[in-house]
Amino acid sequence: MEQRGSWGTRAGFLLAAMGSAIGLGNIWRFPATAYDNGGGAFFIPYLFALLTAGIPILIMEYTIGHKYRGSAPKSLGRLSKGFEWIGWWQIGISFVISTYYAVIIAWAMMYAYYSISGAWGSDTVAFFTGDFLNMTDPGQFGGLVYKILIPLVIVWVITLGFLARGVKKGIEIANKIFIPTLVVLFLIIVIRAVTLDGAFVGLEAFFQPDWSKIAEPGVWVAAYGQIFFSLSIAFAIMITYSSYLSKKSDITNNAFITGFANSSFELLAGIGVFAALGFMASQVDQPVTEVVSGGIGLAFMVFPQIINEMPILSNVFGILFFLSLVLAGLSSLISITETYVAGVSEKFNVSRKVSVFVGGGIAAVISLAYASQGGLVLLDTVDHFINTYGVAMAGLFEVVAIAWFAKALKDLKAHANSVSDIRLGGWWTFCVGGITPVVLGYMLLQNIQTELKEAYEGYPIEFLFYFGWVVAIGVMFIGALFTIKPWPNNDLEVTYEEDKGVSQ
Ligand code: ALA
Repeated sequence: MEQRGSWGTRAGFLLAAMGSAIGLGNIWRFPATAYDNGGGAFFIPYLFALLTAGIPILIMEYTIGHKYRGSAPKSLGRLSKGFEWIGWWQIGISFVISTYYAVIIAWAMMYAYYSISGAWGSDTVAFFTGDFLNMTDPGQFGGLVYKILIPLVIVWVITLGFLARGVKKGIEIANKIFIPTLVVLFLIIVIRAVTLDGAFVGLEAFFQPDWSKIAEPGVWVAAYGQIFFSLSIAFAIMITYSSYLSKKSDITNNAFITGFANSSFELLAGIGVFAALGFMASQVDQPVTEVVSGGIGLAFMVFPQIINEMPILSNVFGILFFLSLVLAGLSSLISITETYVAGVSEKFNVSRKVSVFVGGGIAAVISLAYASQGGLVLLDTVDHFINTYGVAMAGLFEVVAIAWFAKALKDLKAHANSVSDIRLGGWWTFCVGGITPVVLGYMLLQNIQTELKEAYEGYPIEFLFYFGWVVAIGVMFIGALFTIKPWPNNDLEVTYEEDKGVSQ
């Protein structure tokens, strides 16, 4: 009989699932995505995406993990034989994401340190691209940047260290420390941000609805994209995490709690970021539109400027902000890496420590490519393609395979209902089998159309081909290779390593 790790408590599982969901995507992706796509009006497509795709798919993934008790490929393969491949494909996507996600956390770690002295000086853009990253022309790699290498090694040591300790003693403990600390730190940041001069102007810009945007399909595509990345769905993560739940755990309730906690944090991040942007706009006497920026630019170029402008204790604000990024990032990176740790250890029948060392070790070595002088352009390219054509497409394949080919929604619904307080009805089947595939299919077509019109960010075509298309599509094929070897043990009867019969 197979031995599996398990969560110690329900709170432990929930904190780990929230830790996975709440990540860099909440802090650097959400505020700018919301702003670019209609401000206050964006909440309508966002909530629609959360309720029709985010939470329903989360329920589906929790149910699959709980019912079939294995890593994503093992669970999906047990659901229907041909589906093992989708699990490996999603693991491949997570593997790729982990290689650059670790680097952003490493930057944040370094910036937390720079905050102490305000090392970036007055020209924060020149500092980030020049002094810090030592950037070369797009498409070139250049040498390794040692300032990134050291924190990167620390990031991997922490992540792999917790993973090697197992589910309860490693992942659960990490999240029990990281998530409450993150919430406290972030609340301090938000309170400080909303009490700055000009904060209101920023919040007005953030919440002011531009209703005309609702009619634009691109806005809906952005909302679905944000929900998938932010809730960590179609990443193989949530199937893996729920496979460690005990038999009597509630599923539906846990999915609603995870979904709403993640969105609440996202909203909090939006308020904090825009209050700070409003403050900066008022200091430099410009409209908020001029200072707003998304993603990496927001965190590493605009925030240092905001910190420069702060009247008192600016370095404390900086340390708290970058430490929040580190904590949110680490708890997500642990979950992203756990997908392949679990898959490799089950497929090759090796201990967790061996699969952490091999899987995590390979990811860590590959991540060095992003610590090169050309790392930022590489990261931006891989991130764009793996999310647009990896996560979204794997999500589409997952729902179509399960709902339409295996026709498994009825069974999954019965399983979820047998253990959950909130009972699933026809709405759930309709969301997973109807609305989500249609929206994701449409989203994919739209994105391909945009891609063919112009080279992403004007980067060299050949570079985009190899590090964008080949990576995003390649993981699909590499995933298929992993299905060739049979599972050494495919017995659904499992015992839990530290099963104390905790009812979650
Ligand atoms: N869900 C994680 C994030 O938002 C991956 O960053």
